Amino acid sequence: MRIIERKRVILFSTLLLFAIAGRAEEWQVPADKEKRTSPYLFDEQMRKKGEDIFKRSCASCHGMPGQGNNIRSLVPIPPDLAEKKVQQQSDGAIFYKITVGRGAMPSFKNSLTEQERWQVVAFLRSFNKDYVQPPLARLVDSAKLRSVKVIPTFDTVQHKVVVLIKAFQKTDTLPLSEAEVSLFVQRYFGNLPIDSVRTTSQNGLVTFNFPTNLPGDSVGNVQLIVKVNHEMFGELEKTYTAKLGVPTIKPPLTEKNAMWNVGKKAPRWLIISYLLVVGTIWFFLIRIILSIRKIKQTGKNPKL
Ligand code: HEC
Repeated sequence: MRIIERKRVILFSTLLLFAIAGRAEEWQVPADKEKRTSPYLFDEQMRKKGEDIFKRSCASCHGMPGQGNNIRSLVPIPPDLAEKKVQQQSDGAIFYKITVGRGAMPSFKNSLTEQERWQVVAFLRSFNKDYVQPPLARLVDSAKLRSVKVIPTFDTVQHKVVVLIKAFQKTDTLPLSEAEVSLFVQRYFGNLPIDSVRTTSQNGLVTFNFPTNLPGDSVGNVQLIVKVNHEMFGELEKTYTAKLGVPTIKPPLTEKNAMWNVGKKAPRWLIISYLLVVGTIWFFLIRIILSIRKIKQTGKNPKL
């Protein structure tokens, strides 16, 4: 009886371990990345370019799709990318995994452009005859881009800063994705970075967590700086005031009388002794000048 129970415990814990291990292996894709779609039509030209890139950058590990010649010595094994387990994922999920990488799978964020990564997805999709490309994502076109607008909202209760970036084109306005946004609070000496650098989602949004204990001015206002960086238009910086700090009464440096920087703040005894010293010096100076003149005049008049 006891032995059976013990066996059961062992069996259950082994099953649990497997479940946990299985879970850890699953590659989670953030919801907004998963929904992402390609802005380019997966046509023959895209597929061909993707094939070239795949042969150069991916085949060494994954083998050519559908051939099962992926290398088996890596852990986890790089899957044959024509497999159902890969093909059933969304374009956004595959694009995301190519972009960020994991473990032995390198990140291609810097070595392939976005367009090249979509070309690879186009190539991979050509091994799935059931695939139908979802509606194309609309893309901000650098040739039509007129201006970019930064629209922040401040949630003073949840202590969050949400920034929306919009791109104004010739005929329409689109949210700007893939823009790097960073947030700072202005301080006397340099700017204090808040949270980490974020990248706008497909709907042009980023969210920053704001600390709850940062001192503001007497009503809690802080000066925020939003910096935006995007490959199409470069850098942009905007300043805002928001009630996100803890109200703090704090005389500015120039108001402190530490150095008696303003006459009316100096103590009376200091002013009086100052005037006395200066007055005495002047008194003696004038006396000396007068005596010199007297000596000179005496010298000029030999009769005396
Ligand atoms: C150095 C070896 C290596 C190279 C090069 C490589 N991969 Fe991978 N790839 C892997 C490994 C290993 C995994 C499994 C990673 C994991 O699950 O942790 C993987 C996983 C993937 C996945 C996710 C599969 C799944 O089951 O969800 C995709 C998609 C993928 N690779 C695409 C590519 C593409 C496209 C390229 C070329 C641009 C590429 N890989 C280059 C090793 C590589």
